[in-house]
Amino acid sequence: MDTSAFIVFEGGEGAGKSTQSGALADYLHARGHAVVRTREPGGTPAAEAIRAVLLDTANAGLDDRAEALLFAAARGDHAARVIRPALARGDIVVCDRFMDSSIAYQGVARGLGIDRVRDLSLWATGGLQPALTIVLDVDPDLGLARVVGPDRLEAEPAEWHARVRQAFLDIAATDPDRYLVLDASRPAEDLAVEIAMAVGALLGDDSL
Ligand code: TYD
Repeated sequence: MDTSAFIVFEGGEGAGKSTQSGALADYLHARGHAVVRTREPGGTPAAEAIRAVLLDTANAGLDDRAEALLFAAARGDHAARVIRPALARGDIVVCDRFMDSSIAYQGVARGLGIDRVRDLSLWATGGLQPALTIVLDVDPDLGLARVVGPDRLEAEPAEWHARVRQAFLDIAATDPDRYLVLDASRPAEDLAVEIAMAVGALLGDDSL
């Protein structure tokens, strides 16, 4: 089925993004859609290598601007070599995290500025933006409690993650048509149903 669409999951640590994106990808695939499931930072060999640098606690103290540039560099490669080709084939792309993670973590929590970080990401990807973003909203204390062996970003203090959470909510509020905000503390099965319905509406597919 040719129903190209770019769908992104966003949210704080431990919100259940990978569970929900995996469930959505399986669901769409079972209904005959060609689906590419991917993630950021990552999705290509170079972007996965950048991911390792970004998450390694050995790089504690990495300069904030360097961090923002590395996320953007990884995104540029991912967009050019995985996401855009998949969309051009008519596939549905389901991605864990994208530009809004940079806006929330680097733009707001690191204080680098929303507009600058958004512009950097738009430049890196040639203006690629999701059709629908699902924000899984979770209290950082609950989300971080699910994390085993925190990486470099998860190791930031709770108030930093609270700023990230608020940033996602603020971004979503600016464009309600393109964002679905869900309380991630609800049962995973209920969330999956609501997500499937929203994606069905996006694709104009009543059978979903
Ligand atoms: P991820 O593997 O999704 O973390 P988790 O599965 O634990 O939620 O993302 C890695 C980390 O990178 C996560 O802490 C969020 C952060 N991040 C940014 O700070 N900026 C970005 O642009 C992206 C994509 C992720």
